[in-house]
Amino acid sequence: MTESNTQPTLESLAQDVALCRACPLGAGRTNAVFGEGNPKAELMFIGEGPGRDEDLQGRPFVGRAGQLLDKMIAAMGFRRDQVYIANVVKCRPPGNRTPLPDEAAACGNYLLWQIYLIRPKVIVLLGATAAHYLLNDQRGIMRLRGNWLDYQGIPVMPTYHPAFLLRQEAAKRDAWHDLQLVMKRLRE
Ligand code: URA
Repeated sequence: MTESNTQPTLESLAQDVALCRACPLGAGRTNAVFGEGNPKAELMFIGEGPGRDEDLQGRPFVGRAGQLLDKMIAAMGFRRDQVYIANVVKCRPPGNRTPLPDEAAACGNYLLWQIYLIRPKVIVLLGATAAHYLLNDQRGIMRLRGNWLDYQGIPVMPTYHPAFLLRQEAAKRDAWHDLQLVMKRLRE
């Protein structure tokens, strides 16, 4: 965080993230991946962390999993630029491994500020890493998904990560069920 008593903005946070060395992942990145989308989005998606394509482009969910996320967003009746997309960690873990708890803790404040500043109506958590970090609930994603949970008064829906859905086509049905619950909530 830059040194000031004033509240950060998404722009100032993005600048901080670009220079961040709060954990070892910073040393291995090509680009930090802050997140992108509508700063006033009603719907926010939170993934795990950048993969290879995201690291190279500096944008979230632009690889194969991102293409599936784009389809999920479109099926919900949104354009990608209408929602906000972020990750728990902003720098790519080596070999796309799951971020370590220390790395998530070192990076997590950026995400918490993003949520605070965007104040979405609903958050969709993509996969276990996002669910475990934001909800501090260590149950498996199969247990968590499809249930409304709460983060600071914001309804949160955990569902499967699109990378998992690429490997487990059969789970798409459950994910679509979860997203339909989200669509219903957004209409209320
Ligand atoms: N997987 C994630 O969790 N986030 C991305 O940005 C890309 C792939």
